[in-house]
Amino acid sequence: SFSALLDVLLVGKSPGREGWRLLLAGLDDGQDASLRAFAAEAARKRFGNGVFIRGLVEISSWCRNNCYYCGLRRSNRFASRYRLSQEQILDCCREGARLGFGTFVLQGGEDTEQDDDWIEDLIGKLRMEFPRHAITLSVGERDGEVYRRWRDAGAGRYLLRHETRNEAHYARLHPREMDGARRRECLRTLKALGYQTGAGMMVGTPGQTWDCLLDDIAFLEELEPEMIGMGPFVPAAHTPFARHPAGSVSLTLRLIALMRLRFPDALIPATTALATLDAHGREAGILAGANVVMPNLSPLAVRGRYSIYDHKASGGSEAAEGLHRLEQDLKKIGYHISYGRGDSPGHEVGK
Ligand code: 5AD
Ligand code: SF4
Repeated sequence: SFSALLDVLLVGKSPGREGWRLLLAGLDDGQDASLRAFAAEAARKRFGNGVFIRGLVEISSWCRNNCYYCGLRRSNRFASRYRLSQEQILDCCREGARLGFGTFVLQGGEDTEQDDDWIEDLIGKLRMEFPRHAITLSVGERDGEVYRRWRDAGAGRYLLRHETRNEAHYARLHPREMDGARRRECLRTLKALGYQTGAGMMVGTPGQTWDCLLDDIAFLEELEPEMIGMGPFVPAAHTPFARHPAGSVSLTLRLIALMRLRFPDALIPATTALATLDAHGREAGILAGANVVMPNLSPLAVRGRYSIYDHKASGGSEAAEGLHRLEQDLKKIGYHISYGRGDSPGHEVGK
């Protein structure tokens, strides 16, 4: 039953596949709401009422990959392409440091011009100028040796969603040149190298079934990532899935709640995709157990051109300049911004 499964989660154990199935697909609205309340309580017990902020710098909208769901896929001739220089990125981080961010996230497509050496060089410069800030990378699949060099240069965290654990579903979302097993291998390498590692999946992509999500949960239980990024699928113009419906906000919230209860220490963002589909999506994410938001620090001149999907939220409290607005929004639901690095418990510097 629901309450027995909840007890299993609360003592730190896995409900198992059929337990997860009931929690994911078998709850009534009242149980769904109480699941979110328990998850928010679990997050508060671990992190208090603070929400960590990450300054997101979208370093390049070029990508060599061709994921069917993404507006930045290489075949999209309508995508607006830009690439930031190292100096532009450093300027974004200077602004971020001034605003109080303790973490910078450098996110980009797999741009062949911003190559492995260039990124290593950039990390070195950031490390020099911001010795106490956390540097998170999110630039896709690379060789283990490259991940090692970047780790040595001073990057401590890496975001790489596995997207979907189910092989057939992975093949529905990506061309044959891409391989889910290779991506999972990258994730295992990142963890072994000591990165605080983020995995995660989209919710409601074409062809996704309950079993796909159960496979995702099983994979997360196996990998035990420090960070779990989950957002609803949002259709993107000029992509093969442009006419598919968006993913469900309430199912995304349920997954956030379930992953919070299973992984009390995890860093789980209330994603921009959630905020894009629902005016109160970010707050709803926090009230379902999320404890991270990632305001946009990209230069205003390129803001909005990193169009992985349509109508992506990038103004107001999604913007780094909107921290005051964010603080107000959080206050309304009884939360506040946590400044500082926000490391995964057990991965704090000096430990
Ligand atoms: N809708 C929602 N999320 C998307 N992503 C890419 N395209 C979309 C889309 N259309 C997500 C992927 C990727 C992350 C950076 O953005 O999960 O890993
Ligand atoms: Fe490239 Fe990432 Fe978009 Fe795939 S999801 S096309 S890897 S930017």
